[in-house]
Amino acid sequence: MLERQNQIITVAVTGASGAILAQKALALLEGDARVARVHLVVTEAGQRLFAEELGISSGDLKKLPERLLGRSSKKIEALPNQDVGAAIASGSCAVDAMLVIPCSMGTLASIAAGLADDLVARAADVMLKESRKLILCARDTPFSRIHLENMLRAQQAGAVIMPAIPFFYHHPKTIDDLVTQYVCRVLAQIGLPQEEMYRWEGTPASKQAGTKS
Ligand SMILES: Cc1cc2nc3c(=O)[nH]c(=O)nc-3n(C[C@H](O)[C@H](O)[C@H](O)COP(=O)(O)O)c2cc1C
Repeated sequence: MLERQNQIITVAVTGASGAILAQKALALLEGDARVARVHLVVTEAGQRLFAEELGISSGDLKKLPERLLGRSSKKIEALPNQDVGAAIASGSCAVDAMLVIPCSMGTLASIAAGLADDLVARAADVMLKESRKLILCARDTPFSRIHLENMLRAQQAGAVIMPAIPFFYHHPKTIDDLVTQYVCRVLAQIGLPQEEMYRWEGTPASKQAGTKS
């Protein structure tokens, strides 16, 4: 099967812990030949998390992609979250998939309720109404009943709920290993599997059992 080329992806970053997840996703999308363009929208609280966790201030919004990647970006364009009139606020804009990474409980609630009151919430609303891929990397712990009900509501409307939970069976040695493998799983959800994605092939015992005739 031919892989889709020239994909257009929206990446939203909200005020939940895990700014490094967004930074990794943007780096992988920038380097992915199947991706033509990335729209980046960061909420006010998301900008605060970039500053708190990565020491990166938004300053001139146009330069944010460069500051996050540590080099100039050919594909990523940062859009103001207040601009609910941006192209991605319309279903006529050909966005293939959207990630909310990380996704705060506040933005999750807005999306589940269809508030569409800022560009992140409206762009997500558009993905759901157009039946396109929307991945919510929800991050908080523990979850309240309200959080869980909002996740269920968003999932029933078509979103994929992908809590920012690392996994350990690839024997991570560094935080970057954990982050990379989680983000690879997120990108696989939108049809962009990465070469470095770890794939479980079974325990030695189950592999042996599989080879027995
Ligand atoms: C350092 C820091 C870490 C936070 N971590 C989380 C978190 O992991 N999950 C969450 O739902 N909210 C978290 N919050 C609270 C949200 O940022 C806050 O609810 C905010 O209003 C969310 O706005 P947004 O959805 O527009 O980004 C955190 C706030 C700060 C300052």
